[in-house]
Amino acid sequence: MTQDRPRVSLTGIKPTGDPHLGNYIGAIRPALDLTATYESIYFIADYHALTSIRDRAKFAAYTRSVAATWITLGLDPERTVFYRQSDVPEIFELTWILSCVTGKGLMNRAHAYKAARDRNAESGIADLDAGVNMGLFNYPILMAVDILVMGADVVPVGQDQSQHLEIAADIAGSFNHLYGDVFSLKIPEAVLPSGVNARTMPGTDGRKMSKSYGNTIPLFAPPSQLRKLVRGIRSDSTPVEAPKDPDASAAFQIYENFADPEAVKDMRVRLEQGGTGWGELKNALFETLDAWLTPLRARYDELVAPGSELDAILAAGADKARDRARPVLAGARRAIGVG
Ligand code: ADP
Ligand code: TRP
Repeated sequence: MTQDRPRVSLTGIKPTGDPHLGNYIGAIRPALDLTATYESIYFIADYHALTSIRDRAKFAAYTRSVAATWITLGLDPERTVFYRQSDVPEIFELTWILSCVTGKGLMNRAHAYKAARDRNAESGIADLDAGVNMGLFNYPILMAVDILVMGADVVPVGQDQSQHLEIAADIAGSFNHLYGDVFSLKIPEAVLPSGVNARTMPGTDGRKMSKSYGNTIPLFAPPSQLRKLVRGIRSDSTPVEAPKDPDASAAFQIYENFADPEAVKDMRVRLEQGGTGWGELKNALFETLDAWLTPLRARYDELVAPGSELDAILAAGADKARDRARPVLAGARRAIGVG
């Protein structure tokens, strides 16, 4: 499909926990930067989270927390189509249609499914599909629909999502091959964070900061918890006087993302020279994060509270998202012969 419409930036975040510093650097900030030059469509991928979240209260709370985070950090719902995936039924009808043209083999090769099987193999579980539900298996089809139904051109995500974008283009290709030119075949471009932010942000235990590892620093933790989490970032026992390698330190890698470049340079030199301990680095990191977050916390708390204006924002966003999705679904229905 040729296009003289504005180029579209789209991304989704799963409400599987409270958003953390890694989500901000890897996805939220790049996505907000793109709103200046792209038509932006950002959503809460709650039905993707349903593949793993079983607790009703948590599911609702995380959904609210992801939505409140976006708005607090600067998403303008007047300028960005902002919605909850589950409010757009067109997405799920189209998911079924596209499931019927997607080879099972393509899903067998998807990373998250393969990783689940590998984990079973490592634990000596004979049935490699144990614990895998069909939502997890079909996850890439739903994500393809998220992208195709809105006609996304660029998708700000972390590196781990690139395969999903290729799968989306594959699925569009299968449909078009059978039914004609309904979807764009271009692989939507992943927009990855660059420069000092390119590296995956480590969590408090030094592994990738991830909700699934329980090693995150949530963006809107109260100051006392923020301090405790920062103090708890794993560090080695090099004595204060000894020279240190900042690049081997999780706390420094986080600091690099948030402090201003002069402060980062200064801290690097002081660690390398010796005489500066990890405790001092962590204090500086806490102060930097807290100074940034303190003016934002009240707004976040207000939005996340039940009955806040978030409900109206999401309802209006759902209307706009459905207006966009409806003609795309109608086109697919006509193409298959039910429209
Ligand atoms: P999590 O691993 O915490 O469950 P998600 O899978 O929900 O995070 O990721 C949401 C977005 O944030 C994705 O685009 C992902 O690539 C990005 N992201 C997640 N963790 C990190 C990290 N540690 N560093 C950089 N980006 C990240
Ligand atoms: N799979 C993404 C993640 O785990 C979330 C997501 C769902 C998404 N649908 C999307 C991201 C569409 C970008 C575009 O982070």
